[in-house]
Amino acid sequence: MFNKIVFSNYYLRKRRDLKKDGKASDQSNLLDTLKENVEKNPFFLKVLGKRKYGGKIMKVVAINGSPRKKWNTATLLEKALEGAASEGAETELIHLYELNFKGCTSCFACKLKDGKSYGKCAMNDELTPVLEKLENADTVILGSPIYLGNSTGEMRSFMERYIFPYLVYSAQPISLYHKDIPVGYIYTMGAQEEHLDFFGFYKVMELNEGIATRIFGYSETMYSTDTYQFDDYSKYVADRFDPAEKAKRREEVFPQDCKKAYDMGIRFVRRQKAIK
Ligand SMILES: Cc1cc2nc3c(=O)[nH]c(=O)nc-3n(C[C@H](O)[C@H](O)[C@H](O)COP(=O)(O)O)c2cc1C
Repeated sequence: MFNKIVFSNYYLRKRRDLKKDGKASDQSNLLDTLKENVEKNPFFLKVLGKRKYGGKIMKVVAINGSPRKKWNTATLLEKALEGAASEGAETELIHLYELNFKGCTSCFACKLKDGKSYGKCAMNDELTPVLEKLENADTVILGSPIYLGNSTGEMRSFMERYIFPYLVYSAQPISLYHKDIPVGYIYTMGAQEEHLDFFGFYKVMELNEGIATRIFGYSETMYSTDTYQFDDYSKYVADRFDPAEKAKRREEVFPQDCKKAYDMGIRFVRRQKAIK
């Protein structure tokens, strides 16, 4: 309804302006103008998109679990956010390694009967405002490199604090999280795709996706393998890798992974729009 009003107001205003300027005033012209505006200025689409869906702006937050702020994981997260933004969402990228925080200390305040922190993490540090922000996000995307067979230590610590408080130690309800949102995982790793099974990565990814589905309602995973690890392979002891092969992969395959991440951003926001 709100959406229709906003659009009709825009339409009427635009028709009036076109008439005033002596330009054609039929609907096809108006739609062309609208299309032109969108092409010239993506912000225009953003504004229109943001006003859709009952006036509520979707908030999409990505969490970077890599210490590197501009490398593989961060790039894929940025792409996912770009996809979400193309659907009108407001986006934010948070770098875990900028924050001073610890993992769960097993205080169990989040499980204490009638406790004031029931269902919430009671620890207070630089992760606390992030967890508060995530409470109301419409989509969350967690990105991490694989370090020694799993997400990074920071990402694991973050997940303990973000997910464990919502997990209930009884049959019903299974989750204390108050709505249904998609939580996506984006992993990057040096290993090649054919070694994922051997290293047990599928199990890791399956487990994390299963937990997120149970707690938040929906989860998806994407991964980028055989990533480019250094800016200049000649400077490092890394004979196992062929620098030319690595560079080729970076040029040919990584952009496809970026597209997958972008599509994930789009898909998640569309999902949320559909269930609103
Ligand atoms: C401490 C450390 C441990 C790593 N362990 C693994 C591993 O077990 N398996 C793997 O495939 N890659 C491993 N890698 C490679 C990274 O996962 C890979 O380069 C990743 O894309 C880096 O992400 P970034 O570019 O966002 O920092 C490791 C890298 C580091 C620094």
